[in-house]
Amino acid sequence: MDAPVNSLDAFWMPFTANRQFKASPRLLVAARNMHYTSHDGRQILDGTAGLWCSNAGHCREPIVRAIQRQAQTLDFAPTFQMGHPLAFEAAARVAHLLPPGLDHVFFTNSGSESVDTALKIALAYHRARGEGQRTRLIGRERGYHGVGFGGLSVGGIGRNRAQFGTMLPGVDHLPHTHDVARNAFSRGQPAHGAEAADALERILALHDPATVAAVIVEPLAGSTGVLVPPLGYLERLREICTRHGILLIFDEVISGFGRLGAPFAVDRFGVVPDMLTLAKGITNAAVPMGAVVASNQIHDGLMQGPAHAIELSHGYTYSGHPLACAALIATLDLYADEDLFARAASLAPRFEEAAHGLRDCPNVIDIRNLGLVAGIELAPRPGAPGTRAYDAFVAAYEAGILIRVTGDIIAISPPLIISEAQIDELFGTLRNVLQTIA
Ligand SMILES: Cc1ncc(COP(=O)(O)O)c(C=O)c1O
Repeated sequence: MDAPVNSLDAFWMPFTANRQFKASPRLLVAARNMHYTSHDGRQILDGTAGLWCSNAGHCREPIVRAIQRQAQTLDFAPTFQMGHPLAFEAAARVAHLLPPGLDHVFFTNSGSESVDTALKIALAYHRARGEGQRTRLIGRERGYHGVGFGGLSVGGIGRNRAQFGTMLPGVDHLPHTHDVARNAFSRGQPAHGAEAADALERILALHDPATVAAVIVEPLAGSTGVLVPPLGYLERLREICTRHGILLIFDEVISGFGRLGAPFAVDRFGVVPDMLTLAKGITNAAVPMGAVVASNQIHDGLMQGPAHAIELSHGYTYSGHPLACAALIATLDLYADEDLFARAASLAPRFEEAAHGLRDCPNVIDIRNLGLVAGIELAPRPGAPGTRAYDAFVAAYEAGILIRVTGDIIAISPPLIISEAQIDELFGTLRNVLQTIA
């Protein structure tokens, strides 16, 4: 069938109400620093760093130039039984940002691939050290770990799972930590809820801890609507996992690269997992890339057998793609040159004030924040959950700001280059929008 080239039909859009969108499209045609340009020529202030990923803002010159240079020098090189220098440099740069002992980096192309890779490494590691019975994986309700079958299985967002059958066997879930009744309008980490980690002991008693390979959580749950970990919660998870020989994986796809006002959640909370999953901000989203960072213990545990044996039968054609590596190195340089992680920390108090300033807006039932992330939860309309926040999203776009909504929760996560005046503009516009949404 001949389709006009400017038809919207062919692109089956991800996580989108396709028919609704195509009846009333919102197209972005350019971006620079804090702004997108819409197809009708308006400047849209980016309150979401794209999709939690363009932490240094858009189309930054040093990253653009690095990608251009790399594209004309070495467009592609395999990393299966071959190498190219930038992949080794990129891995070393990532490891250098993390605490000592987390020194090994496996490259992927997305957060979903990073999660599935980490889960596979956990299984392979236990098997290599003679504990192949450790096959169970534990995630958390309301967790988001991407869309591969592994990530979906440990993920805990019901509507993402409902269409796709039974998924991986041997998976269980911790309860989520969201507790509006006790923690509404908390600033930073909420006071109540560390005991939710004790549910891990109950799950282990049910299954036998010796059958469990790994626990995976987002230190701060982003996609489910900004759930900040209660004080003491992550420490308790760490302690229980260590006691039972279970690997703890932090999914830092959103929380990494300065979002929380520290390089990683690991630094922000002072809790060190056995593996981390990364993506998004790793290249400022200019080229798709993800990574798993593994402890030396895990890496060394798998470097066994004859030297000619492939130690981990896993990888992607584009693991360590030259363009992604060039973007990664330029991105980390830019984060350092502009001291953006510290900048996020220094802007956080102003950002917190501005976010909590929306408390008196209609239908707001909770506001929560950490670093440069805020969640604003609206009461759902009776019988029509999600529609109130969606209407706010559309009205906000019309008013010139990009926000993100999930259910009836608005998430704000701007690039770390945002100015104080732009913080005021972002929340001021959102205030006006919320006043108009019934
Ligand atoms: C915590 C977390 N893990 C994994 C993913 C999946 O990443 P991707 O969409 O790059 O596959 C996301 C995406 O938002 C995420 O927030």
